[in-house]
Amino acid sequence: VAGRAAGQDLAGLRVVVSAGGTREHLDPVRFLGNASSGLMGWALARAARLRGAEVTLVAANVDRPAPPGVPVTTVTSTADLAAAVTAAAGNADVVVMAAAPADFTPAAASGTKIKKSGDGGLELDLVQTADVLAGLVRARTDPRQVLVGFAAETPDGDADLLELGRAKLARKGCDLLVLNAVGPGLVFGQPDSEITLLTPEGSDGPHAGSKDTLAHIIWDTALSLRSSR
Ligand code: CTP
Ligand code: CA
Repeated sequence: VAGRAAGQDLAGLRVVVSAGGTREHLDPVRFLGNASSGLMGWALARAARLRGAEVTLVAANVDRPAPPGVPVTTVTSTADLAAAVTAAAGNADVVVMAAAPADFTPAAASGTKIKKSGDGGLELDLVQTADVLAGLVRARTDPRQVLVGFAAETPDGDADLLELGRAKLARKGCDLLVLNAVGPGLVFGQPDSEITLLTPEGSDGPHAGSKDTLAHIIWDTALSLRSSR
């Protein structure tokens, strides 16, 4: 991988990586969450540190030891993630949103355990969470700051993967979107993945490999985007 041979090519850069999946509590013991394992975010943080970057990792519900030399801020909900990432992003050169934030949160969480009532079901009233990445794009003051998003899509034939990715890149307004297909046995918790890199200029990939290898490719691309500004 080019990045490994490049040695300390991220030295002097401050980067923020988010990882894992957020949880929205319904009551003190239950939450809405997702299957994100944090592996990709961990690989990104490790790779950036190896290449000399100053790395901040914001982790949502990831049960793994911190990568060596990387401080970890732990968060639970999407609102927590938004606060931690926004604070860290202020003086960051690159922010990579590898976390899978919950998109919906209860309109009102119950302070006590929700009880069953007879044999009735349960309706949940959910509202959308804040879009962290879109907020970073809006709040960007350093024109050289590179903002990277991920998109895990489940193509269903109507719209192909690349089309979904292009639309998301345009909607988010970030500089780079890392696109992958998800589904049973794909991506989540797996050591290997396959990604396509989308920028407003075009696409690169697919690249298949270990998440460590892919992390280096993502940093190569983020670095070249930054250098081109
Ligand atoms: N993201 C974010 N804040 C959210 C939701 C998503 O910052 N509340 C980020 C993710 O970390 C990822 C990118 O946006 O880098 C795309 O996430 P994704 O879930 O694919 O897109 P959404 O905009 O949430 O759209 P949808 O889930 O409806 O496809
Ligand atoms: Ca989402």
